[in-house]
This record gives sequence, C-alpha cells and structure tokens, in this order.
Amino acid sequence: MTALARPDVRLWQSWSAALLEFGSEQVHGSGTIEVPLEVRSTTPRETCAYVVAELQRRADPTVPLENDMVRSDYFWIIDSDSDADSDAGSEEVVGFIATRHDLNAFLLETGGHIGYSVRPSRRGEGHAGRALRLALEHLAGLGLNRVLITCDEDNEPSRRTIVAAGGVLEDVRERTMRFWVEPGQGRRQR
Ligand SMILES: CC(C)(COP(=O)(O)OP(=O)(O)OC[C@H]1O[C@@H](n2cnc3c(N)ncnc32)[C@H](O)[C@@H]1OP(=O)(O)O)[C@@H](O)C(=O)NCCC(=O)NCCS
Repeated sequence: MTALARPDVRLWQSWSAALLEFGSEQVHGSGTIEVPLEVRSTTPRETCAYVVAELQRRADPTVPLENDMVRSDYFWIIDSDSDADSDAGSEEVVGFIATRHDLNAFLLETGGHIGYSVRPSRRGEGHAGRALRLALEHLAGLGLNRVLITCDEDNEPSRRTIVAAGGVLEDVRERTMRFWVEPGQGRRQR
C-alpha cells in the first residue's frame, strides 16, 4: 500500500538505502540537495536526523522563511505491509514528494508546486501515481484549487503520471512541460 509519511528518523535505514540507489541522479522532492558536506560525512542516522529537522523547519509556519523560499511540506512515499506488525520493519521508503504551498518566480516558471521521485528499484509499480494523488489531496486541504506540476519534455514516466492525475498542459518553457491540475480531476489509480 502506498502512503505518505512525514519524515521521521525511525525510518533512517530505509531512507538511507533509498537515497543510495539514486547515485548521482537528482532526488526530486527529497529536500536533500543542500545538505552541507560536513553533514554528509556523518553517519547515515545522523545525516537523516539533520534532514528530518531541516524539513520540519521548512514546514513549520512559526519559522520565518529566508530569501525566496516558500513554505513546503515534505513526505516520504512509504510502501507499508498492512499484514505485518506495525513497526518500522514493515515500512519501506520507496520515494519522496515535496508539496509547496506557494510559487515563487522560479517555481512558477519551471519548478511547480510538487516535486517527486521514486527509488529506481521500485519504479513502474504505480507508487508515483498514488503518491501524487495523495499530495494533491494534501494541497487541496490547504486551500489550493490549481496546482502546477512540471516535467522535462523527455520524461515520459513523469508526463504520464501528471496526465493521469488530471494535468492539463499549459505550455512548454525551456524544454519544461507545465501542467495545471485541479485536485480531484484525475483518473482512478491502479
Ligand atoms: C517519474 C517517476 C517518479 C515515476 O515513478 P513510478 O512509481 O515508476 O511511476 P508509476 O509506476 O506510478 O507510473 C507512472 C506512469 O509512467 C509510466 N511509466 C513507468 N515507467 C515508465 C518508463 N520507463 N517509460 C515510460 N513510461 C513509464 C507508467 O506506465 C505510468 O503510466 P500509465 O499510468 O499511463 O500506465 C520515476 O520514474 C522517477 O523517480 N524518475 C526520476 C525522478 C523524476 O523524474 N521525477 C519527476 C520530476 S518532474
């Protein structure tokens, strides 16, 4: 079953294993791009704790935003086994999804409200489609009735994921396809 979970250090082993699979590939929606080098050289558990704290800070409405940042809620895409005991062993981090409450100039042009990725070993199982649906419900709950989602022109899996969620193409800017989604408009998920 695909679910969204708030980042939590109890899942550090699965989180770390998921990130390792990406190698040098950008991990969209994980919020890990700006992790400082000195943090990267700590243990995986310590790195995870740093990232979790940072993502909680970005989501916290009481913490002022710096520069051009927008408030964002980050989720880990989890595959949980409902038949197993409900400890961390029955949950696997299969991907990442970030939901941004607003658009700054960059996000309006190319970034969009949502960024996401699924770990390479778990692609093609429908996790992205289901996670995107849940993320759209989250943004709708915050009052957004139009959500911008973008992907590169040659990213067919992402394009299909967005179209299945009800994405309507507005235009293509610098090889980036820009789709608007009205939450609740997509087709039924597998
Ligand atoms: C894009 C991505 C998140 C899709 O994740 P996923 O869990 O494999 O996607 P799903 O299994 O939900 O499949 C989504 C759609 O893509 C299609 N798809 C999956 N793999 C595909 C492939 N290799 N080629 C073409 N289509 C593919 C599926 O058939 C499905 O389309 P359908 O609903 O019309 O059948 C994943 O490929 C990924 O993480 N890519 C790298 C990061 C990235 O590009 N993120 C998006 C940034 S815009």
